[in-house]
Amino acid sequence: MAQLWGGRFTKETDQLVYNFNASISFDKKFFEEDIEGSIAHVVMLEKQGILTEEEKNIIVKGLTGIRHDVQEGSLTITEEYEDIHSFVEANLIKRIGEAGKKLHTGRSRNDQVALDMKLYTRAEVLHIAEEVYELLTTLHTIMDNNLDTYMPGFTHLQKAQPITLAHHMGAYFEMFRRDSLRLKDIYARMNYCPLGSGALAGTTYPLDRNYTASLMGFEGPTLNSMDSVSDRDYVIELLSALSTIMMHLSRFCEEIIIWNSNEYHFVEIDDAYSTGSSIMPQKKNPDIAELIRGKTGRVYGSLVSILTVMKGIPLAYNKDMQEDKELTFDAIDTVKGCLALFNGMLKTMKFHRESMAVSAMNGFTNATDAADYLVGKGVAFRDAHEIVGRLVLYCIDKDTCIDALSIGELKEISPVFEDDVYDAISLKTCVEKRLTIGAPGKDAMEKVLDSNREFLSKRWMDE
Ligand code: ARG
Repeated sequence: MAQLWGGRFTKETDQLVYNFNASISFDKKFFEEDIEGSIAHVVMLEKQGILTEEEKNIIVKGLTGIRHDVQEGSLTITEEYEDIHSFVEANLIKRIGEAGKKLHTGRSRNDQVALDMKLYTRAEVLHIAEEVYELLTTLHTIMDNNLDTYMPGFTHLQKAQPITLAHHMGAYFEMFRRDSLRLKDIYARMNYCPLGSGALAGTTYPLDRNYTASLMGFEGPTLNSMDSVSDRDYVIELLSALSTIMMHLSRFCEEIIIWNSNEYHFVEIDDAYSTGSSIMPQKKNPDIAELIRGKTGRVYGSLVSILTVMKGIPLAYNKDMQEDKELTFDAIDTVKGCLALFNGMLKTMKFHRESMAVSAMNGFTNATDAADYLVGKGVAFRDAHEIVGRLVLYCIDKDTCIDALSIGELKEISPVFEDDVYDAISLKTCVEKRLTIGAPGKDAMEKVLDSNREFLSKRWMDE
């Protein structure tokens, strides 16, 4: 047990209590952020005349030495320390002696951990945004190549109207674009530095909080020391954004699983992204898509957990907040893994264009267009709807589709039908006439592709 306190205690901590309280097994994850924050703090202390230049130099050298030794493996982060902050400080004192005891001047573990967590999550926001960007690039390429790939669009998982693969992928492009922008917003809102807030009420040392904030690339310091040490809104916002990303991935996975089924045969997942069965030799299973769908639950779980942890905490810091870490780290790692795997699976997936087109031609996906055709000939829409309904019933009885009926059969149901009906309800016309902004017609889609291209060319993560 290596602890940062003890002066006021007359007994050793119970071992079970110590274990229960300790966080090093997981907060070692932000070891580098802890060092970075400590260096910024010490540099500022010297600038403010609180430490001498010599003390600062010795401490910074000690901290960079510890970082180096841990990175290259000659120093191990062990669980004899309560948390990563204790590990660093104890090792610093071991290494440089007296000067090391001055590192914590004007600082509390409360503002220290708030800073470490923020530095860690802030960097991860960019990593996740990078992966979302990669996925958007893949989607854009598929869209660009499939403006004429016809497929059925569904509502209630029933064939509804024909669309294109580009249009379908475009829906996901919108979702992941919003995810990207959500991460951008979160980044901007979280980018204020809590260091210098002390335990809760600031400190009596003349710290320059603007300076430490700028050293670490923050917009500025946070403005209320009690809020600073007990704010985890940015974690909640991030986990909410991650949950939304998972929800989008999960919906997409669900579709891929359906499309990859023997019945649909719209896509084939690459062998590298499929798995087999131990008993059924013919099987090629979409396990990756299923696992991503399944992992959505644990990311949602992390959001609900942190919301619940935070809901009863009086100001300011309380130990409950230590619970923010494992679930945040797990959610971040899960989402990054899922995004990378999903992108790989999507990139290598084969689209069976023929099956998609055949499917779009069946199932009366042109029924709306047949009704619209009658409207064009002067029939009121409600009557046209009724006529085409009867037409569909007739086709179901004959096991055929509207386009396959003779003009005689069509006229029998409504004399308004003429020869031009076949062109008006062809798959191509059904798609290409849909030209409102956001619709699947090629001209409309090309405008969307232009705007998507523009979005992809301006990477907010690089600004
Ligand atoms: N491990 C603690 C956490 O994650 C660090 C802060 C400890 N502060 C305290 N007052 N006990 O929240």
